[in-house]
Amino acid sequence: MKVLVTGAAGFIGAFAAKRLAERGDTVVGIDNLNDYYDVTLKQARLAFLQSENFRFKAMDVIDTEAILALFEKERFDACLHLAAQAGVRYSLKNPLIYAHTNLIGFTNVLEGCRLFGVSHLVYASTSSVYGANRKLPFSEHDAVDHPVSFYAATKKSNELMAHAYSHVFGLPTTGLRFFTVYGPWGRPDMSPMLFASAILAGRTIEIFNHGAMARDFTYIDDIVEGVLRVIDTPATPSPSYDALNPDPATSSAPYRIYNIGNQGAVNLLEYIEMLETILGKKADKVFLPMQPGDVAETFADVSLLQEQFGFIPQTSLEDGLRRFASWYQDYYRAA
Ligand SMILES: NC(=O)c1ccc[n+]([C@@H]2O[C@H](COP(=O)([O-])OP(=O)(O)OC[C@H]3O[C@@H](n4cnc5c(N)ncnc54)[C@H](O)[C@@H]3O)[C@@H](O)[C@H]2O)c1
Repeated sequence: MKVLVTGAAGFIGAFAAKRLAERGDTVVGIDNLNDYYDVTLKQARLAFLQSENFRFKAMDVIDTEAILALFEKERFDACLHLAAQAGVRYSLKNPLIYAHTNLIGFTNVLEGCRLFGVSHLVYASTSSVYGANRKLPFSEHDAVDHPVSFYAATKKSNELMAHAYSHVFGLPTTGLRFFTVYGPWGRPDMSPMLFASAILAGRTIEIFNHGAMARDFTYIDDIVEGVLRVIDTPATPSPSYDALNPDPATSSAPYRIYNIGNQGAVNLLEYIEMLETILGKKADKVFLPMQPGDVAETFADVSLLQEQFGFIPQTSLEDGLRRFASWYQDYYRAA
């Protein structure tokens, strides 16, 4: 296949592009290499994915003309759309960048797919769409109409926009709700990197909601495995869709939505203890109240992905954190 990967210099994008290129697909990666976090890390990811099956173009998804010209020229079979302004906390202070990249950028990608014959659009959604839901584990069958951050609202909007394109234009779309992805080459704004850096430098780490938090941490290789299984099978209408009793996980359009998580919530303090043991150093902790926009717990029900694609996450948090910590120490020692 010829595949477009947007956000290819990002954490998930780089690993997904690498795996697609390794299995023989022709991969075009785009990214605007913005400075939301360390640009040298993005460039280093691009360096590790160089291969004869991979080409990179610096491009902004909000540039309608450039994006449509790219789709027209390349005629992709599939598109993996991962470029986004990510992060819950940043969206409290910088909502406009989320509106531009996540809404306008996503519209450009939808248009490119519609106009130039893309057979399947797979795009990143997030566990954050579950927002104020407290029914655990989070299931695709539940309504997600109560986002608690603007970031989550833009991602939920992407799901709705994708549904409209699937319905009106028959564009097969699959949204993947990723649950706290971590691993080597991860994001510096997320807790594994923030905590490892602070612990090793002897700085205080901030623990919100006084530690009463839990996350379904998902190792990068498991995420990429799920993405690859899904991308090869364009979404089709769900035979069980019932318009009189609509289930949010189904549709009469070629539209699907899946959780990708590790099927387990790990308490924040337990996770920090694991990281302390692996790094061989205790954290200096400060306990703070809940942050606006945050949720106390995430926990994925991945049975849909398991039933339809045989997806079973393979990496325990402890193994994944060991691999992350080993990369982190090597990478920053070398830097
Ligand atoms: N990492 C997680 O835990 C997680 C969880 C849920 C959802 N997601 C979603 O998965 C996707 C990938 O996340 P990630 O962790 O790899 O994030 P990331 O920030 O590392 O990757 C996103 C990439 O998109 C690029 N980008 C941003 N705006 C762009 C624009 N306007 N034009 C072109 N490129 C642009 C960035 O430069 C970055 O390299 C995102 O859509 C994110 O919202 C991630």
